[in-house]
Amino acid sequence: MVQPGLVPELRSTGPVWIGSGFPDPVGLVGVTIPPTAKRSNPANRQIGLLLEEPIRESGPHLAGLLEPATHSDGPLYRSLAEALKQAVDRGEIPLGTVLPPERTLARSLSVSRATVVAAYDRLKTEGWLQSRQGSGTWVRRPDVGPRSGGEIDAVATGRLFLSKDGHDQRTGPGEPAPSDDELVDLSVAALPGSDTVNRLLSSVDPQDLARLTEHHGYVPHGLRRLREVIAQRFTQSALPTELDQVLVTTGAHQAISLVARQVLSPGDTVLVESPTFPGALDIFRRFSARMVPVPVDAQGMRVDVLPDLIERTRPALVYLSPHFHNPTGSVLAAERCEAIARLSDETGLVVIEDYAQADVRLDDVMLPPAIATLAPDAPIHTIGSTAKLFWAGLRIGWLRSPEDWSARMLATKTVADLGSPLVSQLLAVRLIENLELVQRERRQELAPRRDLVCRFLDEQLPDWTYQRPSGGLSVWATIPEGNADELAEVALRHGVAIVPGPSLSVDDGNRRSLRIVYTRPQAVIEEGLRRLVAAWHGYAPTTSRSTARLLV
Ligand SMILES: Cc1ncc(COP(=O)(O)O)c(C=O)c1O
Repeated sequence: MVQPGLVPELRSTGPVWIGSGFPDPVGLVGVTIPPTAKRSNPANRQIGLLLEEPIRESGPHLAGLLEPATHSDGPLYRSLAEALKQAVDRGEIPLGTVLPPERTLARSLSVSRATVVAAYDRLKTEGWLQSRQGSGTWVRRPDVGPRSGGEIDAVATGRLFLSKDGHDQRTGPGEPAPSDDELVDLSVAALPGSDTVNRLLSSVDPQDLARLTEHHGYVPHGLRRLREVIAQRFTQSALPTELDQVLVTTGAHQAISLVARQVLSPGDTVLVESPTFPGALDIFRRFSARMVPVPVDAQGMRVDVLPDLIERTRPALVYLSPHFHNPTGSVLAAERCEAIARLSDETGLVVIEDYAQADVRLDDVMLPPAIATLAPDAPIHTIGSTAKLFWAGLRIGWLRSPEDWSARMLATKTVADLGSPLVSQLLAVRLIENLELVQRERRQELAPRRDLVCRFLDEQLPDWTYQRPSGGLSVWATIPEGNADELAEVALRHGVAIVPGPSLSVDDGNRRSLRIVYTRPQAVIEEGLRRLVAAWHGYAPTTSRSTARLLV
């Protein structure tokens, strides 16, 4: 199966495998395949890197995750199999993890070996486990049919923004809003501009523009005035920041990408929240990283699982979104910020903290300071954006890096695009100087919409669970049974688009959760929710049938 050196154009350090299926108990890493390789052999699409050391579960650790299942009703082997699937879904067992032998797990769980053998067999039949003599038994995801089109590398965002043919945007500037009998799109977590945003944009002094165009226009690190405003805001929020530490980027998206370019080599591990912003997943995938999910709860990233994950996966990078996380709206608890700062400080682990949604604040909640404030010498990169509070079309974000990274980051940015558009940066200065004003306006606009979604869920879908967000642009809801991918398809047939959890997750996790954005006007949201309720009622019977099929 392993055929090293078959594709000499690939620049990688690890062995290469070619073929279909999940070849061995290792994390599979996507590799950019040169067009010549694709042309010469269509099978070469199925190329990955074999990581030298797979992640191995110990008997006691896995038993700890599965133990609650031993108290549930029904055949024990089924409960264990279900519990294992759920642990994979939550991101507690990364794909590729090698499970302990049946006998070891049976001993740790104090159950018979036959029970564990039956559970493993069931999971193998369903496609969740695979085994090979000498390699053991490892976790995989059941085949779900063809993924995105062959030539599109935006696997995650591709599923959000692209229609079936992979090219057309669902909606574009200037297109009319959908009427009642058209699709209600509750899938995009971004707002149009507002009255205040428009007023501020059109109030830019023409003389400032004229002064701008006196310059040749290539400014890789960004407009000085904008960097000053950003550095000032960081310094005021207890994160002392020199001008040189700030780079203006083409959106937060590019900021993530610049750090990834500096830090990642093919096959490196990145710890990412599950769920998370799918654009980040696309970026890490582009750098051929192996992504390992870290669960998120109401207090943000579950840092309690980090020491163990770090020990087992040796990550090069951690990516998280501490304030009003997309999609859950969670705010990272202060003690968790401290834990991450400590980890980065002590181990040199590079951290990206992404505050793209942080300014969309709907309630008066106390937000902990940026993680970088807690470990000034640690390699922590802090990212912000104008996209979520003001308007994504400006394409202006920023990156604050530790001082000893400044020169490297500037070089990387220069290579990327020679600088972000200066006119947008001039407009961004105007907006950021009036941030609190826009924040108040957005809050008035969005809080009632958020409340509408929560009320609707309480009243119409009482068996769904969700966490009421105090900021951000979406509600993350969990259905009591079934599969959010399927529900999203049924919902589309009922005329409403929502994003299912797997589209926002590594390894297609979070199969029971979905994101409902409250970025549309109230009447549109209400209509969308009505359709979602109809979809759920239409879907529920199918779910029980498919579950029954699974149990046979
Ligand atoms: C957490 C997070 N980071 C980054 C981005 C992208 O931001 P930008 O438009 O500034 O590139 C988004 C957009 O959805 C996001 O939710």
